[in-house]
Amino acid sequence: MLFDTHAHYYDQAFDGDRDAVLASLAEAGVGLVLVPGCDLASSRQAIELAERWPFVYAAVGVHPEDALGLPEDWLAQVEDLAQHPKVKAIGEIGLDYYWKEVPHDLQQEVFAAQLALAERLDLPVIVHDREAHADSLATVRRFPAVRGVFHCYSGSAEDAKTLVRLGWHLSFTGTITFKNARKAPEVIRQTPLERLMVETDAPYMAPTPYRGKRCDSRYVYRMAETIAALKELPVEEVVRATTENGKRLFGVE
Ligand code: NI
Repeated sequence: MLFDTHAHYYDQAFDGDRDAVLASLAEAGVGLVLVPGCDLASSRQAIELAERWPFVYAAVGVHPEDALGLPEDWLAQVEDLAQHPKVKAIGEIGLDYYWKEVPHDLQQEVFAAQLALAERLDLPVIVHDREAHADSLATVRRFPAVRGVFHCYSGSAEDAKTLVRLGWHLSFTGTITFKNARKAPEVIRQTPLERLMVETDAPYMAPTPYRGKRCDSRYVYRMAETIAALKELPVEEVVRATTENGKRLFGVE
């Protein structure tokens, strides 16, 4: 049974057939899905999905791209949402220096505030780090009690080693199946299996041979297959381990 640890099923890309897609996942071998929010509204939508589908869990938080124009009490609102029994993490949170609209200091402030919240609530976090590797690592190091996952990991092999040593997990999307994947294969080979997870980031990042299509959790087996090939392990072992890792990190059954 696969655990897709990162899929945005509230996205409008699923407005036409959301229920049909979610209902089809068990048959495709996907038994657990974690839906992270990106802002207050999508965090609420993630919780609604988790209330309707027993195998769906939610994370709540504010993504760095959504850090502009937050209401004054935004952190209290995230904390409120995090009380829901199906909320298993704070996420997705982090730094994104690819998009230039949100000043870096504001991103860092919003990220750090949510790391502190996760520490207070004793919840793991889901980190989005795009072209902000040094600052992301430096920020999480300020919160040594906080654990979680760097999702769609795109940093160096060196930083990956540091994160694993600090107790973090790394998860990978369909980008690892692309022929031009460069750093990820080395990172996956060196990272202990018990720290790896798989995800789709649906509706984005569909793996080869579905690249460019809308992505959903049915494709997550391709990430497990790719990891199995890189680590020269049976795919069943990667499926079992990545699911166990996700259950342990997020505390789900
Ligand atoms: Ni995402």
